[in-house]
Amino acid sequence: MSTRTIIEGCTQALVPIVPEDQPLSISLASVFYNPEMELNRDISVAVIAAYSELIASHKELNLSDITYVDALAASGIRGLRIAKEVGINVTLNDWNQDAHDLIKKNTELNKLNEKIKINLGNANVLLHKERYNIVDIDPFGSPTTYLDAACNSAINMLAVTATDTAPLCGAHLNSGIRKYGAVPLNVEYHSEMGLRILLGRIARDLARHEKAMHPLFCHATRHYVRAYLDIKKSAKGADKCLKNIGFISHCTKCSCRSVHYGLAVSIPDKCGVCGHQTNIAGPLWLGPLHDKGFCNSILEQLNKRELGKKEHAVKLVELCKNELDVPTFYDQHLLSKKLGISAIPMEELLKELVTNGFEASRTHFSGTSFKTNAGLEGILDTLRRFR
Ligand SMILES: C[S@@+](CC[C@H](N)C(=O)[O-])C[C@H]1O[C@@H](n2cnc3c(N)ncnc32)[C@H](O)[C@@H]1O
Ligand SMILES: [Zn+2]
Repeated sequence: MSTRTIIEGCTQALVPIVPEDQPLSISLASVFYNPEMELNRDISVAVIAAYSELIASHKELNLSDITYVDALAASGIRGLRIAKEVGINVTLNDWNQDAHDLIKKNTELNKLNEKIKINLGNANVLLHKERYNIVDIDPFGSPTTYLDAACNSAINMLAVTATDTAPLCGAHLNSGIRKYGAVPLNVEYHSEMGLRILLGRIARDLARHEKAMHPLFCHATRHYVRAYLDIKKSAKGADKCLKNIGFISHCTKCSCRSVHYGLAVSIPDKCGVCGHQTNIAGPLWLGPLHDKGFCNSILEQLNKRELGKKEHAVKLVELCKNELDVPTFYDQHLLSKKLGISAIPMEELLKELVTNGFEASRTHFSGTSFKTNAGLEGILDTLRRFR
């Protein structure tokens, strides 16, 4: 395998050379490296640094006592960065022999032999055998086949990437139902739908292990969703956590939504505003996506580091921190189009909603979207004032 050297953060790595005209998905390279995921890894470094400092101080541990595993490591770039840039104890696993050999070379290249353990094997076998403070699942496509083992292994934090956005967002409905045991809807807030379907799946997988989750920071960015979850072992905590699971009822005619908490719950099948038939999504996570205090710790970490995607990362975390904690967003362009009015600057709309006594914020999901605690009628009344 021919390789080239790349630098992310302050870590070097050998990665396979992929011919420029060849999509990564059908790449002949035997080890996977996706430069598009640098932002994801920059954020991971900041999140895991913030979190490791937190548990080290709570439990009076040294950073090197904290264990992290990337169970699907490929070139190892993610875990190499965590070992070098955070300084915790890292395990890198992959079942591919070429990946294993490349991880070894990359570990030596960065002089990280003391900090990194390398394992050649099936991720699920490793995660059912060993427990780690922080478990990272970063697969091709859906993470669902690793979640049971990951939920077993994670002591303090679970970090999960999903790149199967079509099943998650309802574009490939049956695949979503098979993988996530939930019905997603392909609506204007499909990116948030995908994130909440994934979180609902993880909360139920953790509950089987009598573990509760508290989302620290979760985002949907281009072709993937990513979640960082604080984990606590507690049957009662898991019961409480499941209270955040429920359904969204969505009217396809007027775009009105209502949320319904619980697994066995009655959901009206007619829209409360226009009387049209509604569609139902779920079970999914209706609880918070971010911990605002923790977002500040991520920002501190981002700001003091040399990172290739720093500016983008800071912007994303800021947006998430300020996002209103309600389960769905509205798309301003779509609503304006329905009303036959032209779109207005987002800041003006948010200001007007606040003036009318509502809470309102931008979202990280898209530049034209906003969140508010106003109902659909309140939003439409506000928009009509700009006619
Ligand atoms: C998307 S890549 C990982 C990318 C890496 N985490 C990063 O940040 O660059 C997924 C990797 O999982 C490995 N893999 C797939 N199924 C596996 C399994 N059941 N056990 C161990 N490794 C597996 C593949 O060989 C591949 O290298
Ligand atoms: Zn309606």
